[in-house]
Amino acid sequence: MSAELPRRGIAVLDFGGQYAQLIARRVRECGVFSQIFPHDVPWEEVAAAAPVGVILSGGPDSVVSAGALDVDPALWDAGVPVLGICYGAQLMAARLGGEVAQSARAQYGPARLQVRSASILLADFGEEEEVWMSHSDEIVSPPSGAVVTASAEEVVVAAFEDLANGRFGVQFHPEVSHTPKGKALLERFLFDVCGATRSWNRSQMVSLAIDEVRRVVGSGRAICALSGGVDSAVAAAVGIRALGDRLTCVFVDTGLMRKGEGEAVREAFRENFGAELIYVEAAERFLAGLAGLVDPEAKRKVIGETFIRIFEEVAAEHPDATHLIQGTLYSDVVESGGGKAARIKSHHNVGALPEDMKLELVEPLRYLFKDEVRAVGEELGLPPSLVWRQPFPGPGLAVRIVGEVSRDRIEMVRAADAILAEEVAAAGLERALWQAFCVLLGLRSVGVQGDRRTYAHPVVIRAVHSQDAMTADFARLPWELLERVSARIVNEVAGVNRVVYDITPKPPGTIEWE
Ligand code: XMP
Repeated sequence: MSAELPRRGIAVLDFGGQYAQLIARRVRECGVFSQIFPHDVPWEEVAAAAPVGVILSGGPDSVVSAGALDVDPALWDAGVPVLGICYGAQLMAARLGGEVAQSARAQYGPARLQVRSASILLADFGEEEEVWMSHSDEIVSPPSGAVVTASAEEVVVAAFEDLANGRFGVQFHPEVSHTPKGKALLERFLFDVCGATRSWNRSQMVSLAIDEVRRVVGSGRAICALSGGVDSAVAAAVGIRALGDRLTCVFVDTGLMRKGEGEAVREAFRENFGAELIYVEAAERFLAGLAGLVDPEAKRKVIGETFIRIFEEVAAEHPDATHLIQGTLYSDVVESGGGKAARIKSHHNVGALPEDMKLELVEPLRYLFKDEVRAVGEELGLPPSLVWRQPFPGPGLAVRIVGEVSRDRIEMVRAADAILAEEVAAAGLERALWQAFCVLLGLRSVGVQGDRRTYAHPVVIRAVHSQDAMTADFARLPWELLERVSARIVNEVAGVNRVVYDITPKPPGTIEWE
């Protein structure tokens, strides 16, 4: 059972790796709805979504290996235009009368594309354009009926087209920002080839999310757990629009939030929605549970369990509730379909509740990407301070304190973090960074302050750039900014006498320290 999704969009068939999501996002940025399907989805399932075009993504597989990933062959005769990208293009060649072979040399990185003939997809390309390649197989000859429209050094078939049959392939990646004309190519496919219209916009996103809640909850009542983060706040805002006073929002103050977080959430909901918000003050309870714990996983487990217990108590006071609203995003939905990623940390998400609660789940954001969720939040009137908040782990500051969590230590890391956040915002860097935060270490070092020897804690500054948190690079923050933050932290936060900067990418590090 799924919501009434927009029709006449683009179906993206996923061959693994991170490409499919990026393609789907790019298509939506062009104002066209896109939906990701597993590569081997039966064609009827895709056809039911009535797409105007199909894009086959790239992927890490090899078309020439035994058991190569494939599509339902019904796709080839469906009469819908198909664009193959990298692996997708190779698959088209291999299955439709062309030829693919292993390259003598794998190619990763920038390449100069030479346009060889008139082409609908390459209409905005000059004779030579920069593109991004990432492949180890090559197309030796295109599908029968297709003409080669572009080549690159050592890549004879870099693009092909068969207008009559609506088949197109590119060996390079138009979806990545390193292919400057990539978006123009996608737009040519969407609008000139497929005849798509620009109809995916904010109001459609909002209606899709609201409809999802109304469809699933019907005449029931729902509960929504707010974490202070963007996703749960937007999910709750959608829930309020959909259900009015049939929604009860719950905010559990774990005592492990960033400075001002609890108040910001309360204020936003009071001001913008006048909604019922149950505020559970539970700092003592979390602190008691964490006492004596040092192991990161043990801390996460206690926090998750304490949260569940509290939520059960709240739910027991609302026996007429039938549903639970959660802020699951489209990327989580797509990824859990694969489910192959190794578990590095047991992520605790507010709302990961036990099945025996008998509340049916509602996920109003399950078709939206993060940037779209932010747009919905803005559209519904949530303040920028909430909508543009950087990601924050469910277990909160507890996983930013290496060693035992105590009230003093929470205060220390919270105060340092607030200084960093303030200075990063003043430098105008808040949105440019994926995350910037402080970590308190459980060891002490010697320092000297005001002619007195100190023996106190170091604070680590962690600031990263990332697209999706799967990988990250440390941010090259300006020295002046670091200098200011360092001076303020050692002067203003009692118990801290040293500030260090974490310059580890992910991998090998993770973004958080625990
Ligand atoms: P790591 O540290 O694994 O984090 O590189 C990746 C991203 O996930 C966030 N994070 C969490 N988010 N519950 C969450 O909802 C968690 O338990 C959790 N742990 C880490 C982290 O802040 C980063 O953005």
